[in-house]
Amino acid sequence: MKKRALITGITGQDGSYLAEFLLEQGYEVIGMIRRSSTVNFERIKHIQDRITLAPGDLMDEVSLIGLLREYRPTEVYNLAAQSFVQTSFSQPVFTGEVTGLGVTRLLDAIRIVDPEIRFYQASSSEMFGKVVEVPQRETTPFYPRSPYGVAKVYGHWITVNYRESYNLFACSGILFNHESPRRGLEFVTRKITHGVAQIKLGLANELRLGNLEAQRDWGYARDYVKAMWLMLQQDQPDDYVIATGQTHSVRRFCEIAFGHVGLDYRDYVVQDERFYRPAEVDLLVGDASKAREKLGWQPETSFEELVQMMVEADLKLLKQEHRL
Ligand code: NAP
Ligand code: GDD
Repeated sequence: MKKRALITGITGQDGSYLAEFLLEQGYEVIGMIRRSSTVNFERIKHIQDRITLAPGDLMDEVSLIGLLREYRPTEVYNLAAQSFVQTSFSQPVFTGEVTGLGVTRLLDAIRIVDPEIRFYQASSSEMFGKVVEVPQRETTPFYPRSPYGVAKVYGHWITVNYRESYNLFACSGILFNHESPRRGLEFVTRKITHGVAQIKLGLANELRLGNLEAQRDWGYARDYVKAMWLMLQQDQPDDYVIATGQTHSVRRFCEIAFGHVGLDYRDYVVQDERFYRPAEVDLLVGDASKAREKLGWQPETSFEELVQMMVEADLKLLKQEHRL
């Protein structure tokens, strides 16, 4: 029988890659979309005729129950969230509602409609925050540094709790930062590669950023969605860190991105207070040995390849947009 997966957050970066991946595996894919006044299917328009889009919202439990009853998925991937850390400082309650409590609403809907459904929760390295151990692994204690990180810790533990309380097949993937040409423009990697492309094409003359010393373990989103799927194919539900094991500063990202088009970032990057955070996560670097050993997963794209791929994609995009 054809497997059927429901993806929340299908219009986001990861949702679009996961939908592609699951289609390749022969799945029927249902994507939950929330109502908006303008269409935002940019990332999924190339697969729109092969997936089913159905309305629902993590804020509204009845909509989740209705979706599960109507489509009866065998797997549910919860990728929906208010996912931007900076916004979580200005909208902490909203972030808690969607990114935290939204997980409980979906788990309850699963419990009510079909407790056999396999569930994936998009947990985050942001939960490690002010890290108490380097590198971070599944057993590293959490110390979140943003309302987003706090909400993700709640989402993580409610997933573990429903697994232990109700015997649900619920997994939590603790994913470190992963990027792609489909990354939202507000996240630092895409902001940099888009900025580099604008400057190279004469459409801008500076790039305003915040803290250049923050270090992140950056991987490629397409590699990471495979790990989500692998978690749900195991005999037992469990939690896994997904990371490259290498860390780089925002400054280094700038150096490579500008360098790729023959520019020196020091001539264009301006540091701007507006992009600093009330509390920062200084260093993230993950240890994905458990995923490598139990899932057979490993990253396939290097940091340099990722940066160059993103710069090239933004150059192409802007040339098309501006008919250059
Ligand atoms: P993203 O691009 O920001 O996508 C977020 C998705 O959630 C969008 O489809 C958005 O819909 C949807 N959404 C937001 N609020 C919703 C609500 N109330 N009800 C239903 N849908 C809602 O995020 P991403 O980078 O793909 O990340 C996917 C997940 O992984 C998120 O949970 C994120 O927190 C987590 N995560 C990401 C990373 C990373 O580095 N990318 C690392 C660790 C964990 P609209 O398009 O309508 O806004
Ligand atoms: N966004 C942004 N904009 N970040 C900047 C800027 C800027 O102008 N300048 C410096 N930074 C620094 C931030 O202070 C942070 O230390 C780092 O760049 C990365 O910021 P983001 O790209 O916004 O990502 P994030 O690490 O805060 O959060 C992402 O990764 C998490 C996993 O660790 C998001 O995708 C989260 O949803 C995800 O959970």
